Amino acid sequence: MISHRSTRLFGAVVFIVILFLILSSSPSPAALQSKGSSYAKYVPKPKLPKFDNFRFGFRPAAHKPAEQPNSSSGESKWYSDWKWMNPFSSSITLEENRSVLPPLRSRRPVYTYYDSTTTKQDGEVEADRQLLLAWRRAWFAQGFRPVVLGPSEAMNNPLYKTFHRDTLEPELHTDFLKWMAWGTMNSGIFVDWMCFPMAHYDDNILAYLRRGSDPTHITRLEGFDGALFSAERAQINKAIKVASQNEAVQKAKTIQELVPEETFLAERTKGMAHYNLATIKSRYRDVAVQIEEAPGEGKHALAKLINAHLQLTFHGTFSSGFEIIQPYLENTTAFANPALRLGALLAECAESPLPSSCPPNNGWCSPCKSGRPMKITQNTGYTNESATFAIGVLPHPYTLISLLKGSSDVTVPYIRRETGRDSWLLEATKPTLGGEVDGTARVVPFKDAVAGEYGASRTLWFTGEDLPAKDVKDSLSSSLIDDMEWHFGFLIPRKTQADEKETSDEKAKQNVLTPEQEKLQKEFGLIDEARTLLKSKKKEHKAIRDVAEAWNLADSEVWRFVRAYRARSVVERNEWQEKEKGYSGS
Ligand SMILES: *[C@@H]1O[C@H](CO)[C@@H](O)[C@H](O)[C@H]1NC(C)=O
Ligand SMILES: *[C@@H]1O[C@H](CO)[C@@H](O)[C@H](O)[C@H]1NC(C)=O
Ligand SMILES: *[C@@H]1O[C@H](CO)[C@@H](O)[C@H](O)[C@H]1NC(C)=O
Ligand SMILES: *[C@@H]1O[C@H](CO)[C@@H](O)[C@H](O)[C@H]1NC(C)=O
Repeated sequence: MISHRSTRLFGAVVFIVILFLILSSSPSPAALQSKGSSYAKYVPKPKLPKFDNFRFGFRPAAHKPAEQPNSSSGESKWYSDWKWMNPFSSSITLEENRSVLPPLRSRRPVYTYYDSTTTKQDGEVEADRQLLLAWRRAWFAQGFRPVVLGPSEAMNNPLYKTFHRDTLEPELHTDFLKWMAWGTMNSGIFVDWMCFPMAHYDDNILAYLRRGSDPTHITRLEGFDGALFSAERAQINKAIKVASQNEAVQKAKTIQELVPEETFLAERTKGMAHYNLATIKSRYRDVAVQIEEAPGEGKHALAKLINAHLQLTFHGTFSSGFEIIQPYLENTTAFANPALRLGALLAECAESPLPSSCPPNNGWCSPCKSGRPMKITQNTGYTNESATFAIGVLPHPYTLISLLKGSSDVTVPYIRRETGRDSWLLEATKPTLGGEVDGTARVVPFKDAVAGEYGASRTLWFTGEDLPAKDVKDSLSSSLIDDMEWHFGFLIPRKTQADEKETSDEKAKQNVLTPEQEKLQKEFGLIDEARTLLKSKKKEHKAIRDVAEAWNLADSEVWRFVRAYRARSVVERNEWQEKEKGYSGS
């Protein structure tokens, strides 16, 4: 027992000495503040207390924050809290592997009504399912919680019993059912399922709808006859009562006609697209004709058209194309592959029945041209340009060290003598922060670019160890692309035109590896080895990983942050889909 304890103590002392040596070359917080960095205030003053619990069992008196529900996935753990803009998560969670993430943005519910009991033509049910899926995906990507309601929700409304349906116009009858279904839910937004958010995440109307409803009014959109309302529950049920008591109820077609205009608050917007029959007939005639002749096929074509318009809207927002953030480009080519692949797929024109058409809310778009895809540039650092979408893949510090060395023979002395600190973050943030500040001061701006109000809808980051190290074409798993479709709100093409060409080229020159391909193969090998080492429970592997992390505190921090941020978004979506199963329409 005694000898066991004394080896531990000895180990601890050696470790403290090593860490002290490592830390001693960091600039002090005071030096940082004098440089006037606006982020300097986030620098934790004494770093050492953190190390009390960094590796050893000495717990300080502070409490670990309580575990939140569903806050882990694989090796990632997180804690969602307003204190996330802090360089080092462990100073809050008191756990090395638990990252502090920004609080999940609460998603306002968006409801639609779909009656699956009415008679449908062949193939129409499947086409409707595609359209509803597209509707849910588009609203989810814009930060809402879409829910499809049906007649059973309407029947749950106590007002349903007092409702005399026989004498009403069929349109009004359906409208009453829609409103009653909506009125059984909490306050939220009610949207026709042919109405799609067709703008960037920051668009005024979307930001407005995300914030909540006016407590005394029902918000409607000017010129969208009945496609979108936002209100609190009491207002909804009040409107239903008022409408049903109106004497004109026998002749009206919508509830809106039966409720005094003062009930509503009209908003104008260019950010919403309503694919109602009139719009389809006047602007997308071929599709309208198809719907008339064979509703199943026609609605399939409509789903494709809407999907292409959603993608076009994304292309329009990021007209300068994609930037792939790849520090140490020459030595980490393989790492950039997934980002390049995602960029290429997103840039590819979506299949559309009317390829040169524009969305209903933007007649002046520039249609996707398949010969001229969006620009993809590779940068060593994040430039934060508003018309550019950034995609980056972060290596674990150990992986980066081994790639830069070109070998998996990485030792502790090698790390300490031959490698710089926080090399990845330093390069990645150079365009925005310059070359002066140290790694710690770069952590918060970087986290902000990943998960902040502004950055979250303009950048996308992954950790490379969670992606397959393969040729560009196979560098993304299909489940990851599935997930990305909910992030972007449209179906992502699974193939590029270049793929077809490459396959035939490959056949032409089999088995001859160019020097470049050889280099790439070597990188794949190194990444695989690094991935194994990082997962390994072997003592010597853990030791080298720990030293790589301690030497690169900022790089490790952002790597964990990005891993947890991605994992949480997947957990969030799974949770929503689980809850959604309870509704009749889905
Ligand atoms: C942190 O995660 C690594 C794996 O990435 C694991 O080996 C290690 O034990 C974890 N540390 C703590 C304190 O949970
Ligand atoms: C990293 O890239 C540089 C510049 O191209 C090159 O000189 C060096 O050999 C590369 N290192 C490895 C390990 O491939
Ligand atoms: C990027 O630019 C936006 C707007 O110009 C700004 O608010 C944000 O702080 C910038 N982010 C970084 C990391 O520089
Ligand atoms: C956690 O997620 C599961 C589905 O993945 C869900 O059923 C459960 O309600 C969630 N727990 C909480 C507390 O949100």
